[in-house]
Formats: sequence, structure tokens, C-alpha cells
Amino acid sequence: MCGIVGYTGYRDAFPVVVKGLKRLEYRGYDSAGIALHNQSLHVYKKMGKVADLEEHVVGKNISGKTGIGHTRWATHGEPSDRNAHPHLSASGKLAMIHNGIIENYNQLKQELLQKGYQFKSDTDTEVLLNFIDEIKENNHCSLEEAVRIALKRVTGAYVILLVEQDAPDTILAARKGSPLVIGVGKGEHFLGSDASPMLEYTKEVVYVNDYELAIIRPDELILKNLGNEVLTPYVQKLDIELAAIEKGGYDHFMLKEIFEQPQTIYDCLRGRLDAHKNKITLSGIEQYAKEICNANRIIMVACGTSWHAGLTAEYIFEECCRINVEVEYASEFRYRNPVIHPGDVIIAISQSGETADTLVAIENAKAKGAIILGVVNVVGSSIARISHAGAYTHAGPEIGVASTKAFTAQLAVLSMIALKIAQLKGTMPAERISALLSELEEIPGKVQQILSDTTGIESIAKKYATARDFLYLGRGYNFPVALEGALKLKEISYIHAEGYPAAEMKHGPIALVDDQLPVVFVATRDSYHEKVISNMQEIKARKGKVIAVVSEGDETAINLSESVMTVPVCDEMLAPLLTVVPLQLLAYYIGIARDCDVDKPRNLAKSVTVE
Ligand code: G6P
Repeated sequence: MCGIVGYTGYRDAFPVVVKGLKRLEYRGYDSAGIALHNQSLHVYKKMGKVADLEEHVVGKNISGKTGIGHTRWATHGEPSDRNAHPHLSASGKLAMIHNGIIENYNQLKQELLQKGYQFKSDTDTEVLLNFIDEIKENNHCSLEEAVRIALKRVTGAYVILLVEQDAPDTILAARKGSPLVIGVGKGEHFLGSDASPMLEYTKEVVYVNDYELAIIRPDELILKNLGNEVLTPYVQKLDIELAAIEKGGYDHFMLKEIFEQPQTIYDCLRGRLDAHKNKITLSGIEQYAKEICNANRIIMVACGTSWHAGLTAEYIFEECCRINVEVEYASEFRYRNPVIHPGDVIIAISQSGETADTLVAIENAKAKGAIILGVVNVVGSSIARISHAGAYTHAGPEIGVASTKAFTAQLAVLSMIALKIAQLKGTMPAERISALLSELEEIPGKVQQILSDTTGIESIAKKYATARDFLYLGRGYNFPVALEGALKLKEISYIHAEGYPAAEMKHGPIALVDDQLPVVFVATRDSYHEKVISNMQEIKARKGKVIAVVSEGDETAINLSESVMTVPVCDEMLAPLLTVVPLQLLAYYIGIARDCDVDKPRNLAKSVTVE
């Protein structure tokens, strides 16, 4: 949440920072702002998107070779010009941007109010900034020293970037709990919440760790810990191409990412799955194979769409590996003192690898002796680094706020882990495993088949785009898909949607059914099929509008439905990899029909780095 960008070097900072902010807008878009050092500090900020900031600065002095910029997802204080970052300290000598939450800001604010400080915004950021300013002025110390002292008093999560009136080409950065990447160029440095703002300039990056502080000048990068010890920056080479973070001819990132799925699922399986040899190679997981096989239970910890991947994996793991699986919302798990025994296996699922709740949940579990496996998309992210081992999903950068290709890649990885453990434990007949491996290999082609003609889904979207509510129903492996379909629709179109187990709907949601309510069934041919058909009858008898995702050629389901979206025939265990795709498209096209900004849905952020 909140995107931060910084630049110091020989180029004009404004265009570099603004372009970077546009790349990070998926993190929040309530307001945007920039501070430039040009003889003195110049701060420009505006409520709204980065484009509004660009308009705001027309005719103003935007020169300067050092700058920091921010795109905000509001926490403390409504979205407004005055709450936008950067903030200027009371002395006017420091400008700061911040991603995270300073939990004890009120206590610090009271101390500062007593000392006569006044505040122009409602933010926790301005409090921390003035707290630093006050320490600096009072102790006559350097900014670096003041930051170090201040951060020892701070609780919460932060990445802060500061520029100082008296240090024209220097940016000071510090991190705890929120992501920060430094790009290393020749005579220039870049900073970002992720690597996307710097990709076209450099592939060499340093991921800053918690409790580290960086002093960055065009030719110098000094990394220290809060104890003032100098650290050696670990420079890594990025393996992402610029094209991966551009729209590539699609109207929206979400659509591009939906259409990338045949490739991303293929990439995720490549080098790991060899169906001919009945072989799965997952080196990270194999290191802990013995522990996983002996585990009494596996706990999946995640948020949002990743939680839905975890829920699907519960069905898969229990079937394949006969291990008890629990699926936890990270935000609940971290606070409710869960019973964790040494040797319990936790699988943390996260696209960004930075979700604050998931991160803290696994930190806590790790401290209690659990084995942490990460199923993460962003290479080098915090969750990936804190996990004992894991498997990357290799879906490439996901920029659309609503997660699509990350979900299918997570399912592909989790299925491979489950099948690998089943092989090792001998909990599933070899022929069944072999059939599933072959099926998995065919998934990219089958997803491609679904995507080859989307006009039917587009027409369905137009037909129901004015509905006020939607109900999504599914059973077994397709129940989590119903939840995910409903989530996608809510996120993108702002239509109220609920996902439910198809049979459970009789215990409540059926009361909502009338001739206005579209009910989306995920009803592929599987062991629950007859039961789901009965559930469809029940909705139809009450005049609900039945829309269904069905297997090709399933005339029974087709005849019961007002509208259908077909998917190729597939083993039920892997069906979610297919059935979710029409639901992603349905949400997308309904969002478009309602004129919604599908890549930047209101109030949402892609990377939730505050709890
Ligand atoms: C946010 C995003 C979702 C995502 C969830 C978990 O809510 O908008 O798309 O599923 O966070 O994020 P993660 O990066 O941990 O998968």
C-alpha cells in the first residue's frame, strides 16, 4: 500500500519519479505528490491519481536532479491535498514520504504538541517527520542520527524516504515491514516499493531489509543498521523485462493478465513437471520433504485471492496426501494465539510476498518452530525471504489490482506440491497421480481454448451488468472458485456478490432469490454434479436467473441455464484452473460495461502492507 519512488543522479528527477509512480499506482491512488531538490525543497501534491499531479504542476518549476514521490492509499486522514505526501517538516528543512502505519503516532503527537508543534495534516507521517525534525534540531545532530534515534521509538511499519534542504543530492531511506528496493545505476540511484520504477534504467538492485537505513547519493550507497554498523549491500540482478510491466496492446492490465494465463501456467510447470516420466521436481520443497510427509497438519495462511487458492489446495492436499489441512486468514491467525507445534508445516501463499498480515503470521509461526514454505510470485520479496523454502509461481509481474494469473499459478504450484507429497507418501494410486500429471500438462492448452473466443462471455456480461446483486455457487473443488468469482465481481464492478457452497445456500441465501437475481453456478462434471444440478433446479424453481460454467457437451446443465460459459472437460481436481477463467472474464466485462476503472478499483490496493 502506498507507492514510493526516489531518484538521485544526473537526469531530471521529475519525469523519472512520475513514470515510476504510474507504475506503482496499483498500490494506491488516493493522492500523489513529489518533492524536488532544486536549490531548495519544492513540494507539489494533489488529491487523485498521478495524472492529476501532472496537471497540477503545469507551469511550475519542476527541475532538480533529486526527488522523492508518493502515491497514497489513505490510512490516517481522508484523501485530500493536505494529507497527500510528501510532508514538509515544521522547520521547512525536511520533506518525507512514508508507506506503512506508525502505530504510536498519537503518543508522539502529544509530545510534539506540548512542545508547540502544529500539524497541517491528519497523517501519522507528518508526526514522525516532525519527531525526527525535533530530535535533529534539539540534539544538533545529523539527519541520519536523528532518524536512527527516532526509529527506536517508533512502533508499526514503515518505509520512509527523506530529502533535506542542506543535502541537495542525498536521499535517506529506512525500512521496517514495508518493501524497499534500491536500483543501482552508473552515477545514479533509484528507489521504489518494487523494482518496476527502475526497470528501464538498471537491472541491478538491492532489497533493503527491516531495521536498515540507507544513505543514497548519485555515486554512493551506504547501508547501515539502526546500530550504525555499515553493511555490505547485496546487489542482485533482476530477471524481469520491461515488456512484462507494460500493457502490450491490451486495454487493461487485468485483461492482459487473464490472457497471459496459458503462458504463465506453462512457465510455472516448466522444468518442474515431466508427465512422461511421472516426475515432479520442486527443489525447495524437496529439502523439507521428510518433514512435510511426517507433518500432522499443514496450515495454509493467506489473504484475499491467495486465501482462495489455499482453500482450493485444502481439498487437493487432503485428497492426495491424506494430511489434515487448515486454511487461515492471515489477519486472524496472527492475533488469535493459534496452537502451533514444532514441525507443523505452514504454507504462506502470496502474490506480492509483502502482505503485512501474512508476513507477521509466518514470523510468529516460525518463532514457534513451524516449517514455513512460501508459494510466492515476487522473487526476493519479504515472505519469500523469511520462508524456510518454497516454490515461486513464476507468473511474472501482476499489475491489475484484481488478481488473476497469480491465482492460477498458485493453484498450479500447490497442485504440484500435493502430487509430489502424494508420490512420496504413497497416499494415492500411481495411475491416478500419473493421470493428474498428464492433465496438469494439458491445462495451458485448455485455458487457451477458453480464451480463444470470449464473445459469449462479453454478451453475458452486458446482459447482467445492471444487476444489483449476484450469488455464486459451487461445490467441492469448485466452491473456492465460486468465492473467487464473487470476489472478482465485487472488486471490479462494485456489484454486491456472495460466494457460497451450493448446498449451503438453502440455509440463508436462497431467501434472496427472485426473478432479478443472477446466480452463477460453477457446475462442471464432477462427483458433485448431480447434486449441483439439483441446486440449479432449486434456483430455477424460484425464478432466479441461472448462469453456469459447465463442461463442454453437458446438455443437462446447459438446458437448465439462462446463460452458459463452457470449459473443456477436465479432471475435477484440476477443474478450478479452468473454471475460474470465465469468471475472471465475466467480472472484467461487467466492470467495463459499468464504466469502472478495472485496473484501479476504488479503495483497493494490490499490495496490502498495512494490517
Ligand atoms: C489485496 C489484493 C488481492 C490479493 C490480496 C493478497 O487484497 O488486492 O488481489 O489477493 O491482497 O495479496 P497477496 O499479495 O498476499 O497475494
